[in-house]
Amino acid sequence: YATTHEADLVVIGSGPGGYVAAIKAAQLGMKTISVEKDPTLGGTCLNVGCIPSKALLHNSHLYHMAKHDFKHRGIEVGNVSFNFDAMMKYKVNSVKALTGGIAMLFQKNKLACDAMMKYKVNSVKALTGGIAMLFQKNKVQLVRGVGSIVAPNKVEVKGDKGVETINTKNILIATGSEVTPFPGVTFDEKQIITSTGALSLPSVPKKMLVIGAGVIGLELGSVYQRLGAEVVAVEFLESIGGVGIDGEVSKTLQKILVKEGMKFKLGTKVMGVRKEGSGVKVDVEAAKGGNKETLDCDVVLISIGRRPYQDAEQIYKVDIIYAIGDCIHGPMLAHKAEDEGIVCVEGIKGMPVHFNYDAIPSVIYTSPEVGWVGKSEEDLKKEGRAYKVGKFPFLANSRAKTNGEPDGFVKVLADKATDVILGTHIIGPGGGELINEAVLAQEYGAAAEDVARVCHAHPTCAEALREANLAAYFGKPINF
Ligand code: FAD
Ligand code: NAI
Repeated sequence: YATTHEADLVVIGSGPGGYVAAIKAAQLGMKTISVEKDPTLGGTCLNVGCIPSKALLHNSHLYHMAKHDFKHRGIEVGNVSFNFDAMMKYKVNSVKALTGGIAMLFQKNKLACDAMMKYKVNSVKALTGGIAMLFQKNKVQLVRGVGSIVAPNKVEVKGDKGVETINTKNILIATGSEVTPFPGVTFDEKQIITSTGALSLPSVPKKMLVIGAGVIGLELGSVYQRLGAEVVAVEFLESIGGVGIDGEVSKTLQKILVKEGMKFKLGTKVMGVRKEGSGVKVDVEAAKGGNKETLDCDVVLISIGRRPYQDAEQIYKVDIIYAIGDCIHGPMLAHKAEDEGIVCVEGIKGMPVHFNYDAIPSVIYTSPEVGWVGKSEEDLKKEGRAYKVGKFPFLANSRAKTNGEPDGFVKVLADKATDVILGTHIIGPGGGELINEAVLAQEYGAAAEDVARVCHAHPTCAEALREANLAAYFGKPINF
């Protein structure tokens, strides 16, 4: 049977961009409908991205600590081992708790449709989580199925219940991204895998080859390396970490990961990937031409980037009005998608909009974590901008040293004449948390002196950020 809905805003896609936009729009008084084709809410980030990868990163890190680090701290735990199935189950439960939450939030706002109620019955467990609760709380209606825009004010959703039509004043596209395919390679998600396969392997491979030492390659490569796999990352560029990472940070990270056991083949391009016998063979060649060789592995993870969701093209039958997140330009990051979602619906409501694309943080959740915001030294050199550098090593930070996590540093880049902060780069304990203070400073146009003069709690790793700002503005830190 056909159902027709009326809405002020239809948001196609319930990833971090779409679900946050839907909730914000409902909070601003719009009758909002979220359309999602997948059985669970939360998009790439919650289902096969940020959340499951962080569950595996955190737990493999704890295992690694228990096995290799606890003893010298005076903690005796005997023979440490891990149960891979249980680790994967923990990951599944982390995801469930959050994806269910979105639906509950939609429901809370008392506009739940039939599909929503069915969802509730079918996945009671999932509903105990976050997104579902948020939808409920904020009165966001959910319509399940593949959405397509058939007219400037009309969305059709093809789902289990047939076609539902939504007449709407506004449409927001938040359809996300998908893995960039590798020419000539078919993913079986068992031996030739994307990040999605890497999040659900049945066992730890003996030898894993990672193609692309960007964010996914480094994060998921470290998970399996910590769990005992021999991991080799093949990277086209001469540096690791992907776009935007500061060169000095990249080199430091590589050194630390090599010390942990990960291997890198930089300046190397992959020519072909084929299954042979029970394993996989990967033909590689020096990026500048020349040396060719064939590498063997049990599993190859291909992580050479993502691209806007291609099937989405079929929904663009009319001029797009609003679009956010991975499906448009800019860094493919959950927090960028979320913030664009909020700004977009505020704009629809006629409110003033502001989004500073120079103040979007990037984090690589390796150990130690890497976090940065703003310009790298390479960027500033390219721009010919006069800048000064303030650096502070975690080795000289009392908390990091006491915690036995002295690797890494904070580097602050500030304008030579005005002292205004242009970029902050952290590699070290809690780098992914610490970077948020630097983002706040940069968003408010702070000078290095401003941060250096703010009282910071002692003993904390954040004091290293303050000292790096002191070094940038005054030329000398206190503790180094
Ligand atoms: P998505 O999350 O991709 O959501 C799009 C949604 O739209 C999907 O649910 C899809 O089913 C739905 N959809 C598409 N077309 C239609 C249609 N026609 N009708 C109905 N529904 C449709 N980012 C970070 O910031 N931090 C991290 O730690 C991080 N880790 C990651 C780890 C991995 C392994 C991966 C792959 C990505 C990671 N990311 C991370 C990136 C992050 O997941 C994305 O930037 C983010 O999910 C983008 O959000 P989005 O809302 O634009 O799109
Ligand atoms: P990426 O862009 O970070 O890294 C891809 C790497 O592959 C680059 O270093 C590139 O030079 C290399 N490469 C490309 N083609 C190659 C080839 N043929 N041979 C060898 N190397 C090759 O992309 P990645 O890691 O796939 O991640 C995709 C997206 O997901 C990123 O945009 C990232 O923002 C997001 N993501 C974010 C995370 C986070 O915020 N912590 C975690 C995981 C993913």
